[in-house]
Amino acid sequence: MPIDEDLKKAVLDHAKIEEVVSSFLPTIKKGKDYVAKCPFHDDTNPSMRISPSRHIFKCFVCGTGGDAISFVSKYLHIPYREAMIKVAEISGYDDPRLKNQTNSRPVDQRKTTLLKCLKDLSLYYSYALSTPEGKEGLDYLNNRQLDASMREKYRLGYAFNDGKATIDFLTSRGHSLKTIEDTGIAIMSNGKYRDRSEGRVIFPLFDIDGNVIGFSARRIKNNDDAKYVNSPETYLFHKSSVLYNYHIAKEKARIAGHIYVLEGFMDVFALARIGMDNAVAIMGTALTQEHIALLRQLNVEIRMCLDGDLPGQTATLKCAKMLSESGLKVSIVDNQNSSRDPDEILNQDGPDALRVYLNKLLSYEDFVLNYYKNSNPLTTNEQKKKLIAEFMPILLRLKSQLDFDNYVHKLSIITGYDYESIRDLVSRSRNKSEEETKKEVRIFHPEAKLLKRLQIAERELLYQMLHNPEAVVFYEHNVNSFYDEIYRNIANFIIDYAQNHASFNVLDIISNIEQSESENKEQLLEEITALCFENTHPKHCSVELLDNLLSSIKEEKEKIFEKDMLEQSLKDKDELERARIYSEYNRRRKIDDK
Ligand code: GTP
Ligand code: MN
Repeated sequence: MPIDEDLKKAVLDHAKIEEVVSSFLPTIKKGKDYVAKCPFHDDTNPSMRISPSRHIFKCFVCGTGGDAISFVSKYLHIPYREAMIKVAEISGYDDPRLKNQTNSRPVDQRKTTLLKCLKDLSLYYSYALSTPEGKEGLDYLNNRQLDASMREKYRLGYAFNDGKATIDFLTSRGHSLKTIEDTGIAIMSNGKYRDRSEGRVIFPLFDIDGNVIGFSARRIKNNDDAKYVNSPETYLFHKSSVLYNYHIAKEKARIAGHIYVLEGFMDVFALARIGMDNAVAIMGTALTQEHIALLRQLNVEIRMCLDGDLPGQTATLKCAKMLSESGLKVSIVDNQNSSRDPDEILNQDGPDALRVYLNKLLSYEDFVLNYYKNSNPLTTNEQKKKLIAEFMPILLRLKSQLDFDNYVHKLSIITGYDYESIRDLVSRSRNKSEEETKKEVRIFHPEAKLLKRLQIAERELLYQMLHNPEAVVFYEHNVNSFYDEIYRNIANFIIDYAQNHASFNVLDIISNIEQSESENKEQLLEEITALCFENTHPKHCSVELLDNLLSSIKEEKEKIFEKDMLEQSLKDKDELERARIYSEYNRRRKIDDK
């Protein structure tokens, strides 16, 4: 059958080529056009150009080019006719003539045979729920709030305790033992096959067209058996490429503009129960490149929602990183420390609570900053530099100047390093290799104007405290607590010592620290010995010196406090509002510095 030229033209007129290509590869806007790394040869620089105005793509190295349909045809290795249907689907073009375009791909006989067997089996499992023997399965599903409409939609079922009956049923329906073997549902015991899922409730697993290709079976009793048992890898079922509920979610996600990526079936069901069908589960915490390829085709924002505990957050970080590095827009449900999954939230707190939970989102960048801020101590320069090194590639990928400024500011607030120093460091690292960037960060000496002045003053006072009891009394009355944690700890040791001794011996203080149980003992010792060896400090401790130190400390602390307030006031603000607050803050700082 020749291609219907009118239909082809209609599809191409409707499709945006940049959108079609972007649903398979990361693209970057360059002037009026887009560029991408060419998928048709081993490309290191983006050499493929996509022209929205001319509706074509062209690689300037390998020469491959054409329209949106030929791109998809080449990329997916599918016939032009099939690619045309795919392009129509991606661009949301509906045309009755598309229905007549028969799939010209040769029939895969092996696939057809297996699908038929799996379909019969799935019907058998559903039927089991209506029988007396299946009542425990039905009760279980009802208990988990999976009513008749949910059971039908997801074709839920139950595998009878008698696992041999499953095999007999399939044989009676004309499926050969070889076929049954190939579906992966049977296990051999005592020379006979039986159903590996016997006595469990059944969640069929689907391919992207909604065909059953395998099963996940959940135990219904609270015992030590595996909670879920999945089909093994088969000709049709490859766990790493299944996103549970993708066949339903793909359309809904395009309409909503985003898709939720969840851990488990029960989470998908919870969202479905409140009318959100734009959700898939990765069935665990591992996101694969195959999953990413499926998600990319939707061309929508990805909203990650794995568990809120630390392992969940670590898995989220890994998944979100993969998604972001493949050029997808990703945000994260802000569920840190929440120990409940969406299913539990819905059952305990109701639909509105779940909706609120799902709509509390963090940008990928904020998520990463929070994660590192909360999971690593940020006291030493090394620790702060590590955070900057982790965050650098993310900063370099940001496309909007406003976002860039925003996150450099946040980084500056978190590390205490000066905004300009971080910005310059990032600029120096642009267009450099990963190795070179790492080196830049290693040798980075932040101006850290703000912290530096505070630190110098605090260090000076600490030095005086090591040698003069008057300085200790002055600290206790006027400063009370150093901003720097290490200095604060050392000061406490000095105060303890001063209470029991009239005259000072630094070596005694050092040995007190050595004998203490202090967590950061090593750091304290390193700092205090370094301080003892410094000979740049005034030998005479005058009242005037102490007063000067006090006013520096107060001033700098005030500025830090202001910065903290700034961070507070930026919470929950939109981009424009943030930009306005920043410029106001910067203007005030410039006046102060004069
Ligand atoms: P419920 O405990 O029934 O509420 O399920 P859940 O979805 O909340 O389970 P959980 O959060 O523990 O796990 C998330 C997903 O990981 C599940 O939906 C499964 O796909 C997968 N999973 C969990 N436990 C197992 C297991 O024992 N074996 C296998 N193969 N997969 C599992
Ligand atoms: Mn659960």
